[in-house]
Amino acid sequence: MTDRPCLFVTRRLPQAVMEFAHSRFRCTSNPQDRPLCKEEIIEGAQGCQALLCLLTDTVDSEVIEALPGLRVISNYAVGFDNIDLDAATRRGIPVCNTPGVLTSATADLTWALILAVSRRIPEADRYVRAGSFQGWDPLLMLGRELSGRALGIVGMGRIGRAVAKRAQGFDMRILYSKRTPLPPEEALPQAEHVSFEALLGESDIVSLHLPYSEQVHHLIDARALQTMKPGAILINTARGALIDEQALVEALKKRELAGAGLDVYEHEPAVHPGLHDLDRVVLAPHIGSATVEAREKMGFMAAENALAVLQGGQAHSIANPQVLDSKT
Ligand code: GLV
Ligand code: GLV
Repeated sequence: MTDRPCLFVTRRLPQAVMEFAHSRFRCTSNPQDRPLCKEEIIEGAQGCQALLCLLTDTVDSEVIEALPGLRVISNYAVGFDNIDLDAATRRGIPVCNTPGVLTSATADLTWALILAVSRRIPEADRYVRAGSFQGWDPLLMLGRELSGRALGIVGMGRIGRAVAKRAQGFDMRILYSKRTPLPPEEALPQAEHVSFEALLGESDIVSLHLPYSEQVHHLIDARALQTMKPGAILINTARGALIDEQALVEALKKRELAGAGLDVYEHEPAVHPGLHDLDRVVLAPHIGSATVEAREKMGFMAAENALAVLQGGQAHSIANPQVLDSKT
């Protein structure tokens, strides 16, 4: 088959996905075990119709303009804040993402962090490994119960809803903030729509599940942190720049918050100074979607998205569908 389109994959993906990509495209990929810089992406994808990229790749107007043959950008992620959507739209290039297939994985990790912070699991693990465990103690490592407490979900998309669904099993009160309340068929009966301010003021645990854009940069700033209940916990499995990390360090040091569980950081892979030093913070290396199942499904979806766009079919998800309208 000589007419297969040319695809550049910016990082090696799970084996089954690479095999699929090679069977459908003339596929080349980054041979190195590290993210590529912009120049390397431009070089690798030169002459390709499709780019399969990751959330660690900056695909800005410079990259997009330097790839004149490009007809589709397929992100291996649900978030696409690494891509300049306006620049792609100006060029008429569809930008695809992978919603849905990583919802359970990310909701599970959110719960892993909620439980790890509430019951001080990493701290307890360090304590046992250090040989400090001297026997059962009535006052050792007391955490807080979840039952009866309020979980505030900021952004109630697929992942927010999956987190809410799991909260029902913990008998929690569920609050959510979202620009428009969910329609009845999507709303969980127990989840109450409240303003962002009310959510901050009433929740024992605040968990972020909204996509990042400049409009929500540092949504959780010093003021928001002060509005939170004393002793509350903040969880972020969305994007790091939703939080002013310096303000978070200060709020934790002053014990205004009881703890935080973070999977994402504003300047990944750098972790804001001060976060490492706080025992009540649980830090994960952006592993929300890191399950065997999710990573394979994301890969197939990303490759299928690229193929569908090039063949005039229906992609699973397009972030800028207006580019298709203007072509018909
Ligand atoms: C992960 O952060 C994603 O957006 O898929
Ligand atoms: C994001 O769009 C999600 O899957 O919640």
